[in-house]
Amino acid sequence: MTERTFSIIKPDATRRNLTGKVNAVIEDAGLRIVAQRRIQMTEDQAKKFYEVHAERPFYGELVEFMTSAPVVVQVLEGENAVARYREVMGATNPKDAAPGTIRALYAENVGENSVHGSDSQENARLEIAQFFTDADIVG
Ligand code: CMP
Repeated sequence: MTERTFSIIKPDATRRNLTGKVNAVIEDAGLRIVAQRRIQMTEDQAKKFYEVHAERPFYGELVEFMTSAPVVVQVLEGENAVARYREVMGATNPKDAAPGTIRALYAENVGENSVHGSDSQENARLEIAQFFTDADIVG
């Protein structure tokens, strides 16, 4: 089934000029980038986005990291896009990420792990709506 997922290319990747390389992995995997914008996340945006992790010990560090440099927010479309993108990203910790995945190729550590991808279709819808309107998405 064709579906959409939400992606963020994180500050560690934009800082190292890896946006194009990450996008190449995404496109080579058959996912289409149907919306994309480079933004400087505000503290409020990052706090809201990662609200589910508010009680985790790394929450403060995570919000600080996500606002430390520009990010690229994206909508990806394709067959089973949520699960497919999670495969393409690899495990959260790059040490556990399968060869060829974005995190195996580019992530620096479990926190600075180059990309985010939604973990369910419901979260994909909520996350996309935080950054894009329907008119921004051209499938
Ligand atoms: P992401 O998929 O964006 O969702 C939550 C993020 O929290 C995760 O990627 C990592 O960037 C970060 N994270 C997860 N576990 C840790 C950890 N143990 N220490 C620091 N950051 C973490």
